[in-house]
Amino acid sequence: MPGFEIFGQEERDSVNEVLETGVLFRYGFDSARNDIWKAKTFEKEFASYIGSKYCLLTSSGTSALSAALAACGVGYGDEVILPPFTFVATVEGVIQAGAVPVFAEIDETLCLDPTKLENYISERTKGILPVHMCGSMAQIDKIKEVANKHNIMLMEDACQATGAHYKGKFAGTWGIVGCFSFDSVKTITCGEGGGIVTDNESIYNRADAFHDHGHDHIGNDRGKEGHEFMGVNFRISELNAAVGVAQLRKLNKIIEIQKKNHKIISDCISKFDDVKLRVVPDPDGDSCTFISFMLPSEDLTRKIASELAQNGVDGSFYWYDNNWHYIRNWHHIKNMNFAMKMAQSSLANLPDYNKLELYQSDDIMSRTISMQIKLNWTDDELQNRIRNIEKVFFQNGLK
Ligand SMILES: Cc1ncc(COP(=O)(O)O)c(C=O)c1O
Repeated sequence: MPGFEIFGQEERDSVNEVLETGVLFRYGFDSARNDIWKAKTFEKEFASYIGSKYCLLTSSGTSALSAALAACGVGYGDEVILPPFTFVATVEGVIQAGAVPVFAEIDETLCLDPTKLENYISERTKGILPVHMCGSMAQIDKIKEVANKHNIMLMEDACQATGAHYKGKFAGTWGIVGCFSFDSVKTITCGEGGGIVTDNESIYNRADAFHDHGHDHIGNDRGKEGHEFMGVNFRISELNAAVGVAQLRKLNKIIEIQKKNHKIISDCISKFDDVKLRVVPDPDGDSCTFISFMLPSEDLTRKIASELAQNGVDGSFYWYDNNWHYIRNWHHIKNMNFAMKMAQSSLANLPDYNKLELYQSDDIMSRTISMQIKLNWTDDELQNRIRNIEKVFFQNGLK
């Protein structure tokens, strides 16, 4: 990760095709666009790649989440169960929808713990929203069993797991809807962009309309399209979609390189009994954007994270102290500092997140480091990285 590392002629050619027509927009201008439909092409190819009936490209992963939640009818009075380790956008999506985020424990997959989920289900639970963090998937079959048993929707945040799969089925295709991000640091990028996949025609139609002011996209005359309900503008531009089409065609190659580099680092780390690699439910389906591991104590983990950085092992993340990915430092949400008045009615339903007790997640996250897997490392850089990781582990007495 990320796809921008191998941005090249293919992306430039794809963007130029759009620039030459002058039609930078995904809808309309049919006669001027010379039959170039980049957003539609991406949607068709991505749906076919991951085995979904429908795909909708949107302006971001955040907007994909909002459109998916709206299309699934999630709103005021509903609760959605999600993990406390995610990018904060997952939480924003649920709050923007007017629903209440209910944080459940994660396990050593770094994703929702299926064995704990039932503790969080209430009569208001509308959905479970697992997040496949850092390129590998949750135990999604077990999570789906719980959702089915309680007749609640399973929606997936697969923003960090494009191309990951579990037991042969891709991330994003296990639930009623799956959301993706194609932003700057993702496995494939559109520059900015996101997407939804679903097999459900009505959810697709609702998301499609919602993301474009409610337009039903029937017929060729934009002025005559129907508006079944109110929407917003979460449209992608053809320029962003053009980058996405070229990147999508490189996805297999990207994952292949990630897997190769990941294996070299995981072989090095697994020599240390004191270091425990993240549990990956189906190693074959790991997209290998990161390698994550757990150390014996919080103090040691913080120390090693800082020494890795000092020793040139860049791209190492200690999420527990990070502002964006773990609930501990989401002070704006904990203190309910929301800019939008539209959420005021829902705010009354939000619990006091400062009082949240997530001992298992805290324990795991306080001992976890993730390292980004890059595509452009040379053999020398990779060997150097391994030497530095070993040096830091040895100097801290790890065996
Ligand atoms: C798990 C997760 N969900 C949602 C998003 C939001 O995606 P975007 O940045 O495209 O809005 C991200 C982006 O980092 C993410 O990692």
